[in-house]
Amino acid sequence: MSIFSLCQKSMSLLSSRHRKVFVLAILTQFIINLSDVVALGLITVIGSLASNYIIGSDPDTWIIKLLDILNLNDYSVKSLIISSLSIVVVLFIFKSIFTSFSMHKIMKFLAKRQAEVSIELIGRITSSKYSWLKKQNSQKLVYTATDGVHSLITGVLGSLASLISDLTLFVMIVSIIFIIDFETAIFILVFFSLILYFSGRFTQNLSMNFGARITKTSVTTRNSLTSLLNSVREITLTGNQKFFTKNLDLNLTLNSDAKGLSTWVQQLPKSIYEIALVIGAFILLLFQIKNKDFSEALTLMLVFLVASGRLIPALMKMQTSVILIRGYQTGSEMVIELIDEISKDQSIEICIPRQIDLTSAPAVKFDSVTYSFEGQLVPAVNNFTFEIAPGQLVALVGPTGSGKSTLLDLMLGFYKPDSGTIIFKTKDSIVRPESIKNVAYVPQMPVLVAGTIRDNIIFGDIKEDIDSNKLNSAIKNSGLDSVIKKLPNGINTLLDQIGNSISGGELQRISIARALYLESKFIVLDEATSALDGTMEKNITDHLNTLKEFATIVIVAHRLSSIKTADTVVYLDGGKIEGTGNFLELQNKLPNFAKVVADMRI
Ligand SMILES: Nc1ncnc2c1ncn2[C@@H]1O[C@H](COP(=O)(O)OP(=O)(O)OP(=O)(O)O)[C@@H](O)[C@H]1O
Ligand SMILES: [Mg+2]
Repeated sequence: MSIFSLCQKSMSLLSSRHRKVFVLAILTQFIINLSDVVALGLITVIGSLASNYIIGSDPDTWIIKLLDILNLNDYSVKSLIISSLSIVVVLFIFKSIFTSFSMHKIMKFLAKRQAEVSIELIGRITSSKYSWLKKQNSQKLVYTATDGVHSLITGVLGSLASLISDLTLFVMIVSIIFIIDFETAIFILVFFSLILYFSGRFTQNLSMNFGARITKTSVTTRNSLTSLLNSVREITLTGNQKFFTKNLDLNLTLNSDAKGLSTWVQQLPKSIYEIALVIGAFILLLFQIKNKDFSEALTLMLVFLVASGRLIPALMKMQTSVILIRGYQTGSEMVIELIDEISKDQSIEICIPRQIDLTSAPAVKFDSVTYSFEGQLVPAVNNFTFEIAPGQLVALVGPTGSGKSTLLDLMLGFYKPDSGTIIFKTKDSIVRPESIKNVAYVPQMPVLVAGTIRDNIIFGDIKEDIDSNKLNSAIKNSGLDSVIKKLPNGINTLLDQIGNSISGGELQRISIARALYLESKFIVLDEATSALDGTMEKNITDHLNTLKEFATIVIVAHRLSSIKTADTVVYLDGGKIEGTGNFLELQNKLPNFAKVVADMRI
């Protein structure tokens, strides 16, 4: 992607109002640069006055003309030099302070936009289709939505602002030199353009190279480190740490290498232009001596050196800006690709926020539902037709991989059936699964969010005064009270404080408390009690049975003891219904189920 289209893409992420603010900020920078040019003009006047003063000759004719126009002929050369010098000092100080101030404002503005774009992108990612989200590399998404957006907004646009500002300064200074001496100006223009072109070509590949390497290795490092931390115990026990850290070590080394290269490449323009300055001054002197007298040649060389004193910082910054834009390219492209993918691909259409609250315990009707995962030959759920009556407790059982969790995901609206329909019927409405909110769900592998135990139970309930009765009964009925009693700050204990010390059963109980707190009309539990002891499991099952009055409940369980009292048990195998009935009926009519019951000695 060319620098131009990269900058164009970055700009397109700003709203039209923000784009205008950005352009205005660059214009301000342009106006500030004018003071630099005026100061440079004054230095030329001072130089000319000073050389004439030292030799004792009259000022040059163009100076006399200028003083005439400005009505300053009555002043002595000395006072003119001193007052011009004072103006130059003030202008340079003004320029430096205001450039720094305006750049600070531009960067602050871009940082704010960066946060907004990140927030918007995270919003779009999290509201994308679950089936798409599940396929993504989460570390890559995290990198794209944070560091990637930084590359695109602050990195590319910040460098672009700097580039335009320095480019305008360069053009203005060269224009001034054109007024002073045409040949010197042409020389400066050609000489520095050539340097800019060739050093640009030289640094382009290097900067794209370090940018791509930093981005790639940052993502892979995060991946390796996360998996290392997640499975540290297993890895330690095998004694094979070296195998797992080898990849991480390699990525960290490559990342540091690329960062080192980046620092070096950013320093390169300094050396290039230092060399260019001395060579340029020398060539110019030789060239001018040939064509003009020595003192005139010396004055022009002085003009060249003074002009270069202003031009070279601008050129160096321009080059560094281009290096940075190229360096930020890979990270930026990741954001552009992700945004394009989210906006174009139909399979990741944005979910409409769930808005419907079930008014009564629903009936759930499956009609010939079939669903296959991408690339799988056999459907995970195959022609599933079944009806759950309102207020029933239905258990889904079956061998591992038989499609139980997939069926739950379909019924919760995370996946859309390839064929067939699922509808929820309450007393007064018919609703599709993807529209229902306030569903209580305990997943097979619960996850805690940052915050306290309380935050994890109320889970985003932002009402001012939380109903403490509701909270306490959720804690009691999930068996979490005995856990909370042991914690230093009870329910307000921060998870950071207890971190990994939460046991599997405690984690499940927090997740169950979260589900019960919702007082939902539809409760779904996927292996929710697998880590609990028998008594605890029975207490929770008993409690669930009391909820049937208000809610429809679906339970997936391998431990059949927890579903003995279910109204209906559905036995799944290979995504198909093998048999249904209450526990005893199914045990009598389905040998596969009877065998599992016998194996479990229930
Ligand atoms: N995201 C996915 N992509 C591809 N295949 C998947 C995906 N999720 C599940 N599957 C496959 O679909 C089938 C059904 O999986 P599912 O998780 O529904 O089984 P399950 O009955 O819940 O098993 P378990 O009792 O082990 O939890 C399995 O063969 C599984 O490998
Ligand atoms: Mg499962």
